Amino acid sequence: MKAVVYERYGPPEVLQLREVPRPIPKSNEVLVKVYSTTVTAGDWRMRKADPFLVRLFGGLFKPSRVKILGFELAGVVAEVGKEVQSFKKGDEVFASCGYKFGAYAEYKCMPLSDKIALKPVNMTFDQAAAVPIGGLTAIRLLNQTGLREGHRVLIYGASGSVGTFAVQIAKEYGAHVTAVCSTENLPLLKSIGADKVIDYKKEDYSQPPAEYDVVLDAVGKASASACKKLLKPGGKFVSVSGSPKEGVNDLLALKKLIESGKVVSVIDKTYTLDQIQDAHRYVEQFRKKGNVVVRVVEQP
Ligand SMILES: NC(=O)c1ccc[n+]([C@@H]2O[C@H](COP(=O)([O-])OP(=O)(O)OC[C@H]3O[C@@H](n4cnc5c(N)ncnc54)[C@H](OP(=O)(O)O)[C@@H]3O)[C@@H](O)[C@H]2O)c1
Repeated sequence: MKAVVYERYGPPEVLQLREVPRPIPKSNEVLVKVYSTTVTAGDWRMRKADPFLVRLFGGLFKPSRVKILGFELAGVVAEVGKEVQSFKKGDEVFASCGYKFGAYAEYKCMPLSDKIALKPVNMTFDQAAAVPIGGLTAIRLLNQTGLREGHRVLIYGASGSVGTFAVQIAKEYGAHVTAVCSTENLPLLKSIGADKVIDYKKEDYSQPPAEYDVVLDAVGKASASACKKLLKPGGKFVSVSGSPKEGVNDLLALKKLIESGKVVSVIDKTYTLDQIQDAHRYVEQFRKKGNVVVRVVEQP
């Protein structure tokens, strides 16, 4: 099968399209034919080994444990292991590969213990591939805070993948949403339901009053102490800098929200697998709006 492999940490050029053996599913695994994947911040951080600590997942001196990146996917079940009863050949699925990565390939084996579920029926493979990482992080962080109807939430860095999902999920929970982003993304945030937008290039979002029940830093670039000053007594601050523990139930909750028409994936650009270096160059600039998709197979 074709896959994007990397043998050393470094710039986008280390990503090479190669022929590699197709994996064989174990008894508790499904083999997914990958239709679409994405480039997330996690992918370029693993590619560059930045921060250094990512070498704990990928390999200390060179990528040894992880040679194929790709954090999330959507595709079709091509084969199931002997013990698998919850999926069958032909099922359309979406999944987070977690720190095992491996979605930059035509096929990927997924154990049933991973976050894999039937694809939302109203999404294309491109749209569904963009959900698991940003969507799961957003829903888990918001659920940790106990956000509910009538609460006021400020989402800093609302225009990225985590941010655009968080805005829509918070609206669906009945919260009043203030989104903070740069000038050019204000219309995007309004279009996905933000009640109020603050342009951080023109306004200081960190000024009192302390009126929020929840502040979510969705890009890990806000000052925690400034955010905490915006909270009402008892309010909660959460950030992508912490690692939420999501499970398959969170993926199923997202699927339900998507199928009820309440949540969409914001897609900035779409590349093909042989354009993976360009896709990484773009995402590494930290300016993507929502998600960047990589098509593994041609789709209508
Ligand atoms: N802990 C976890 O489990 C987890 C999971 C997923 C992601 N993450 C982390 O979350 C972060 C965000 O990822 P992402 O994919 O959602 O977005 P991203 O693509 O990494 O970030 C792009 C967005 O960040 C905004 N941005 C850049 N600099 C900013 C700044 N100084 N202040 C405010 N916004 C800024 C840009 O919008 P503007 O042009 O409008 O500023 C752009 O829309 C990454 O660092 C990623 O590693 C963590």
